[in-house]
Parts: sequence; C-alpha cells; structure tokens
Amino acid sequence: MKRATGTYVKSTTLGEVVKAFVPHPLPPQKPALALEVYQDLNHKAEMALARLSGVSGLVPSVDWLLYSAIRKEALLTSQIEGTQATITDLFDDEAGLEVSNTDDVEEVTNYIAAYRLVRDNLRDPKGLPISVRLLRKAHKLLLNGVRGAGKQPGALRRSQNWLGGTRPGNAVFVPPPADKVPALMSDLEKFIHDQPRKGEEAKSKGLPPLVGIALAHAQFETIHPFLDGNGRIGRLLISALLEDLGLLPEPLMYLSGYLKQHQTEYYRLLSAIRKEGDWESWVQFFLEGVQVAATQAEENIVKIASLVASDRRKLLESPKGGAAAYRLFEMLPMMPRFTVERVKTALGTTFPTANAAVKALEELGLITETTGNKKNRSFSYDRYIQLLSSA
Ligand SMILES: Nc1ncnc2c1ncn2[C@@H]1O[C@H](COP(=O)(O)OP(=O)(O)O)[C@@H](O)[C@H]1O
Ligand SMILES: [Mg+2]
Repeated sequence: MKRATGTYVKSTTLGEVVKAFVPHPLPPQKPALALEVYQDLNHKAEMALARLSGVSGLVPSVDWLLYSAIRKEALLTSQIEGTQATITDLFDDEAGLEVSNTDDVEEVTNYIAAYRLVRDNLRDPKGLPISVRLLRKAHKLLLNGVRGAGKQPGALRRSQNWLGGTRPGNAVFVPPPADKVPALMSDLEKFIHDQPRKGEEAKSKGLPPLVGIALAHAQFETIHPFLDGNGRIGRLLISALLEDLGLLPEPLMYLSGYLKQHQTEYYRLLSAIRKEGDWESWVQFFLEGVQVAATQAEENIVKIASLVASDRRKLLESPKGGAAAYRLFEMLPMMPRFTVERVKTALGTTFPTANAAVKALEELGLITETTGNKKNRSFSYDRYIQLLSSA
C-alpha cells in the first residue's frame, strides 16, 4: 500500500451490507506525487499535443478535421461501453440513410450533443464553467432516449451502485454511498477550478495540468456519481479539460482509442488507486496514452490530408470536373456518404446538376456507388472512410 486514498464505510443496498469506498479529496497526499513520477512523461505528452495543434495549420480548412475527430472520440468512447456502431453508421445516419442499429447510433449522436453543449458553454464567456451543473446537463443529453430512460438522466444518483459482479456483495467495486456524492463532487469541482492552465503550473506551485486531468478523471470514476454513463461523462471531462486548460486548442485527439485498446489495464489501474493507493501507475499510463493518441491523431491527419490533396489534383486535372463537381468534392470530408438528393440540397442546385457532379466524381474513381437500385442511389467516399476507421 503506497498510501491511503480513501476510507471504507458500511452501506446497505438490496438488503446487503457492503463496504463502500469514499475517496479522499485530490490531490494525492502522504506522500504527494513525486516530480520524477511524471515530469518526463508530462513533457513528452505536452510536446505531442503541441505538434498535433500545429498540424492543423497544414490543411486549408480545419472544420473537417474537427468533424472527424469529434466523431471518432464519440464512437470509441461509446464502444468502450459496448455500443455497436461504426463510423459508416454514423455518416449514414447523418446522410439520412437507413441504419439498422438505431439505438447504438443514438448513443453516439447523444454523446456528440453532450460534448457540444459542454464546449459551447466553455467557449461562451457567459457560459457555465466545468462544474457539477454542467456535467449534469451533459449527462441529461447523453442518456436522452430509449436506453437512458430509467437511469435518472441529468441527476446525481440517489441509490448505492456497484461495478462488476451480479450483486453488491460480490462486486469488483462499490462506489461511495449516494448521500456522500454531492460533497465529493463539489470537492472535485474545486480541485478542477484550481488547476493551472498550460505553462502556469510554476506560478500555482501545483501539478501540471495533464496530471490534474488524469487525477480528475480517476476521481470521477471512483465517485461514480451517476447511475449510468459514468465512463462516457468521465472521458468527456478529459476532452473538455484538455481544451479548457489550453493543452489542445481544438479537440483533435481521440484518447478513447488508446483507452479502448488498453481497456483491461485502464480498469485495473483505476482499481489500483483504491486497492494499492497507487496513483503513480495511473498517472503514468494516462500521460503515456496522451502521447500515443496525440501522435496517432497527427499521423492520421497527415494521411487524410494527403489523400484529399491528391484526389483534388485528379479532379482539377480532369476535363470532367465542373464547378459543381469541384464544390461537391470539397464537401466530401464532412459528408462522405450521400444521395444525389442530399447533394442537390447541399449545393443548392437542380437535380440534374447534382447528378452530373456526382457522376463526374464517380467516373474519376473518387467515390463509389453503394446501392444497386436506380432510385435513391447512395454514394461513398470510401478511401477516406477507410482511413478514418483504421486509426
Ligand atoms: N475498477 C474500477 N474502478 C473505478 N472505475 C472503473 C472501474 N472499472 C471501470 N470503471 C469506470 O467505469 C466506467 C463504466 O461505468 P458506466 O456508468 O457504466 O459508464 P457508461 O455507461 O458510460 O458505460 C468505465 O468506462 C470506467 O471508466
Ligand atoms: Mg454503462
């Protein structure tokens, strides 16, 4: 045991008496986190984030980068929780095409809505800061719909919950009793407000902001303040803080990819904080993850940008491309699945013009038709989607 990170209290649920874990407030104490534990990894992670921020300067428009990065994070964070949806499902849904797994897709689009709400608030000088209130609002959007109903969307839980196992008595982890949750969350909120922005930690004599984010996420998961959606809101908190503390000016990274890939380790290290008092291993895992995820996102942006650039060249060099085809091409990164009808609306042209533009791109091999039927044909910018799904 490295240190005590909380205490156990008796809690009764479903007629059973269990020991629920009540974490100490952040930051870790006795001993505090040592500089050697995080200094080097923190530096590397911050550098990787800075490089990722810089790469967006290489592309003419940053919109589609954000568009795809936010969707990747939404998908991956939902997949950690078992949601079965792919990026193609998401694009089809946005194109108004039929998807088979509507409930799964809804979970992903709910996440996007929740994230947008948080981001809009943080960017608005009159908006809410990162706070329990804002997280509750996000939770309400996340659990909006079929699967969330009955899970108290938007409210802190009022009953004892547990993780793993069939009942509280054989659970892997019993979070704090419900009556302790509001106070624990307000402690966490205070800790978050005290976090320095990037480059200002010396002034505040505090921990670097990335370390603060690692601590805040784990503490959130330990409190497990909601009946469901704790994983997704806890990871949304990571994305929000990265931007709010000035580590990444735009949400270009999808850390959930790393967390999904190392899911067993992720959960094991969250438990080790409680069971072994080991904050260090979690912080190191998190910093390593940021470095890997940021580097991966950067590499992927370069790959996608060069695909789009070389396809654009093909189009410009061909006699087939007209003004409408060119405009359609520029829209593809943000609408890689579409029907002619949708193109017509997006371009604001007639159906024949839209149809001709689609045909031109198809003949150049830039897009492919995905349906056999004559009516309501749909098309796909396949190689782009493949690149997005691979990393
Ligand atoms: N042993 C653990 N200790 C603390 N938190 C854990 C542990 N195992 C998993 N978690 C967290 O709990 C999340 C799942 O909680 P849940 O409320 O079901 O969220 P969601 O509905 O978003 O899946 C995981 O994604 C993880 O972040
Ligand atoms: Mg869940």
